[in-house]
Amino acid sequence: MEVFLLYNLFSPYQIKGLELKNRIVMPPMCQYSVTKKDGIPNEWHYVHYVSRAIGGTGLIIIEMTDVEPDGRITDYDLGLWSDAQVPAFQRIIEGCHQHGAKVGIQIAHAGRKAEDAEIPVAPSPIPFNNDFKTPRELTTDEVKEMVEKFRQAARRAVQAGVDTIELHGAHGYLIHEFQSPLTNKRTDVYGKDLALFGREVIQAVKSEMPAHMPLILRISAVEYVENGYGIDHAIELVKQYKEAGVDLFHISSGGEGPIGSGGKPGSHAAYQVPFARKIKEACDVPVIAVGRLEEPQLANSIIANGDADLVAIGRGMLRNPNWALEASIQLRQEGVIPKQYLRGFPRVK
Ligand SMILES: Cc1cc2nc3c(=O)[nH]c(=O)nc-3n(C[C@H](O)[C@H](O)[C@H](O)COP(=O)(O)O)c2cc1C
Repeated sequence: MEVFLLYNLFSPYQIKGLELKNRIVMPPMCQYSVTKKDGIPNEWHYVHYVSRAIGGTGLIIIEMTDVEPDGRITDYDLGLWSDAQVPAFQRIIEGCHQHGAKVGIQIAHAGRKAEDAEIPVAPSPIPFNNDFKTPRELTTDEVKEMVEKFRQAARRAVQAGVDTIELHGAHGYLIHEFQSPLTNKRTDVYGKDLALFGREVIQAVKSEMPAHMPLILRISAVEYVENGYGIDHAIELVKQYKEAGVDLFHISSGGEGPIGSGGKPGSHAAYQVPFARKIKEACDVPVIAVGRLEEPQLANSIIANGDADLVAIGRGMLRNPNWALEASIQLRQEGVIPKQYLRGFPRVK
């Protein structure tokens, strides 16, 4: 007999050695606030992340953090290309841990969307649009070196004490650029097999992670531009990335071109959830759903209906660092509010 288990937003979740107190994720959100341009997080980042830990978030994924200086979207982004960057991340991670949150970090390279790089690099020399610089095509040897840069950044993330790592394979950044037929016109092995770069990065990063630590990959399930890839291509990529070592997929969409250029209208509540469910079912993988899920009943139903295993709240958490605490009141979940804040919230009963 099949046994159905009922979960909700506040059910604990475990994947490998990562144990979360609830299903609420803060997704990576660039703060563009590294005023010294050295890739090192500062007091803004510390307060920003630790506030969301106090605010009851189960898993905090630190914003896009880049593997080399020219891999940043802007010079104000975080980086892990040097050991000197590790201690400031460590401080943030320890601060979040003290308040019961687990911490991941999104490791990335912006590829052709590196706006401040003098000459950005990419799989092929195709600009994002007329406002962007034309990137230089990476040589085959440089692609291999890039894999190594991801590996080194992962090593530093582990050193800083992360509980998980997320690879940014979405939104038109470097890994996405390799996996998309729109942006990868290479004639070498990395062009013949669009998933090769992603698989090599996954394997390299995994080699630096303890065996019990899960790896997350964020992927764009569809591209909203003409001739862009659709969900079937994403499913094929997810199958290969799962085989290469990804444990959990974070399902987003778009980023290869201006949103809407392929006819997709603007986002509405839960607009990406069907993609998450489809990938979960087709590939038998756990998924994080994201995108306009800040209404607590909606977020809860996505877990309860089995559409996704975890739910990420982005802009909702920018507006309200205590999003999870507020949600616990609306969903009548006891015991979530820290004692210091009890007088600020109505009693659940
Ligand atoms: C200010 C801001 C910065 C973002 N930076 C990143 C990022 O670093 N990496 C990423 O994968 N997505 C990034 N995103 C996308 C969010 O992670 C999330 O997928 C998106 O906002 C949709 O979720 P929401 O409707 O809950 O905000 C960013 C979004 C915002 C609003």
